[in-house]
Amino acid sequence: MPRERGEEARRDLVEAGLLRADLAILHEGEFLVLPVVDRPEGVLPAWGQIVERKFPEYRRKGPAEYRDLLSLPESERQLLPRSFDIVGDIVLIRLPPSLDHRKESIGNALLEFVPGARLVGVDHGVHGPERRRSVERVAGSGSWRTRHKENGVELAVDVEKAYFSPRLAREHARVAEDVGPGERVYDLCCGVGPFAVTIAHVGRAGPVTAVDANPDAIALLRETLSRYALGDRVTTVSASLEQFLPTASLAERVVLNLPHEGIKYLPSVARTVAPGGRLYYYEVTPRTELVGREVTLVDSLAPVGRFSLVHERVVHPYSPSSDLVAYGLERSGGPEPCRSS
Ligand SMILES: C[S@@+](CC[C@H](N)C(=O)[O-])C[C@H]1O[C@@H](n2cnc3c(N)ncnc32)[C@H](O)[C@@H]1O
Repeated sequence: MPRERGEEARRDLVEAGLLRADLAILHEGEFLVLPVVDRPEGVLPAWGQIVERKFPEYRRKGPAEYRDLLSLPESERQLLPRSFDIVGDIVLIRLPPSLDHRKESIGNALLEFVPGARLVGVDHGVHGPERRRSVERVAGSGSWRTRHKENGVELAVDVEKAYFSPRLAREHARVAEDVGPGERVYDLCCGVGPFAVTIAHVGRAGPVTAVDANPDAIALLRETLSRYALGDRVTTVSASLEQFLPTASLAERVVLNLPHEGIKYLPSVARTVAPGGRLYYYEVTPRTELVGREVTLVDSLAPVGRFSLVHERVVHPYSPSSDLVAYGLERSGGPEPCRSS
C-alpha cells in the first residue's frame, strides 16, 4: 500500500479479521507492506498489491483479537463473529440472538480493542425504502454522527439517518478511476454520496449529479461537499428516481446502487446512459442465478438500446445464498439496431 493509504488499509483488514497481529508491518520507502492471514481479495482497496515477504514477529502489548478480551464459555465463544465494521469512530457488529445477553461485554471489548473507537452498536440491519440502519448502542458514548475516511476523503455520515457501508470503498474508488475527462456522471440513489464525492475529488469528471430520496442523506452529502469546496462540481438533488428520471438528460457514467429494487428502475435509468457510456448497476443476486444473470440484464435492456457486459464482480457475500454483485453495462456507441415488432 502507498504509505498515505496505509491507515485505511490497516482498518479494512482489521475489520475483516484479516490482519496478522503477530507480525510487524514493513516500511519500504513510500510503501507499507501489511501481513495478512489469507489472500484478501475483495477487501484490499484498488491501489493495493499482493506481494510476498518475510515479516518479523510483532509483540503486541494488548490482545491479538477483540475475542481475546472476553472470557466466555467455549460454546458462546464459537459464536462470536470474527469481523465487524468501523465507520469513523463507531464500531458496528452483527450478533446472533443467542449472544444478546453478552452484548454489553462484547461492546466493551470492541471499544477497548479498536484504536480510536468512541461508540459501539449492534447492527440490526437496514430497513425501509431509505435503507436506514437500525443500531443499538452497547458501549461508549455520543451520537451516531461521525466522519468516515475512505479513498482520501472524509465523508459526513450518520449511521442511523442515512445508508452508508464501509465495505463499498473499493467500488467507490474503482468507478472514480473509470471516469474520463469531462464526462457527465449521475450517481442515482447516492446516499451520503461516496461515489459522487470520490469521483469529484479525483477531479477529471465533468458535472456530477447526485440524487437520493432521503433528505438526511442529501444534507450529509452537502456537508461533505462544502468541506472540500466541491459544491460547484456536484449538483445534489433531494428527490426520488420517479421524480428525477423524467427530467434527466444523458450522462457517460451512471451509477445505480439500489441492490434490492434497482431492477425495477433499470430500463428508465439505462435511457440516461449516453451512447458509449457505462451503467454501474449493483444488485443482490442469488448464487443460483449468478450464471447467466448478465444475459438476462442485457436482454432486458434491448428495448432501450444495445448494451454489453464489460465487468461483473462479486463485491461481497450478502447472505448465505446471495452476493452483492457489480455489473458494468456499456451502451453501444454506434447506431442502435432496427427492431422489428
Ligand atoms: C444502498 S443505498 C446506496 C447509497 C450509496 N450509493 C452508497 O454507495 O453508499 C440506497 C439509497 O437509495 C435511496 N433510495 C431508495 N429508493 C429510492 C428512490 N426510489 N429514489 C431515490 N432514492 C432512493 C435510499 O434513500 C438510499 O440512500
